[in-house]
Amino acid sequence: MPAARDPIGVLDSGLGGLSVLKALREELPNEQFLYCADCAHTPWGDKPESFIVERTRAIVHFLLRKQAKAVVLACNTATAAAADILRKELSIPIIGIEPAVKPAAAQTRTGVIGVIATRRTTESARYLSLLRRFAGNVKVVTVAAPGLMECVERGDFNSETTRELLLKYLTPIKDAGADKLVLGCTHYPFLSEAISEIMGPEVELLEPGKPVARVVRMRLQKAGLLNPSSSDIFRCTYFVAGAEKHLPTLKLLVPNQKRDAAFRPNIFELPA
Ligand code: DGL
Repeated sequence: MPAARDPIGVLDSGLGGLSVLKALREELPNEQFLYCADCAHTPWGDKPESFIVERTRAIVHFLLRKQAKAVVLACNTATAAAADILRKELSIPIIGIEPAVKPAAAQTRTGVIGVIATRRTTESARYLSLLRRFAGNVKVVTVAAPGLMECVERGDFNSETTRELLLKYLTPIKDAGADKLVLGCTHYPFLSEAISEIMGPEVELLEPGKPVARVVRMRLQKAGLLNPSSSDIFRCTYFVAGAEKHLPTLKLLVPNQKRDAAFRPNIFELPA
C-alpha cells in the first residue's frame, strides 16, 4: 500500500520531463521525487507504439520498486501510447500529459492554433480524439517536429541548427495566423526563447507543467497521499539511462538548482 511519505515518480523519454518536474516542485514543495529519463533510448517519438508501451511499463515498475506512491508520465508520447494500458494494470494514480489543445481552442482570438509535438503523439488516436472533442470550431495546424527533442538533449537551446529546425516547423503555423502555440512535447518549453523569437511576442506558448502539477495535487489529496511533512529542500533522485553522456545537460536543466544551497543532484544509472 502506498504511503503519504513515499515519493512521486516522474518519467520521460529523456530530460524534457524536467520542465514538468519544475512545476511539480513549485506546486508540491513537501514532496520527494524520483525522476527517470530513458536517455539511452531517445527519441521515443519516432519509435513504434509497442516499444514506447514496453519502456514506459518497465520504468513504471522500476519506480514502483522504489516505493513510488503515484507516477507522472511527464511525456505526451508515453501518455498517448501507454496511459490507458497502465491504468488498467495498476492501482496507484497514473497522471499523464496531453497537448493543451482544450485551453488553446477556448482562448484563441484569431481562431487558429498551432500544435508541435512528436510524430507518435500527432498520429495517436488520443490526439485525434482531443481535436474532435475540443477543437471543432477552430483551425488547428499540427506539425510533427522530429529532431527538436534531440536539440534539448544536447543542451542546444538556441543555436543556429535549432533555430533552422524551428523555423521549418513553425513557419506554416505562423503563416496560418495562429495566436496560441501548444508545446505538445515536454522538451519544447526549454526552447521557448528561440520559439518566441520566431513566433513573436503576441503568440502565447502553452505548456502543461502547471496545470498537470495541480492535477497531481488533487489526485494525491483525493487518495489521502499528500505528504504531510514540510521541507524547504528539494529532494529528487535522478535515474538516467546513459547517465554519463547526458550529465552536462541534466545539470543545466535540474529545477532551480542554484537557489538550493543544500541541493546536489543525486544521479544513478537507470537499468536497461
Ligand atoms: N518528451 C516527450 C514528449 O513529451 C518525448 C520526446 C521523444 O522522446 O521523442 O512527447
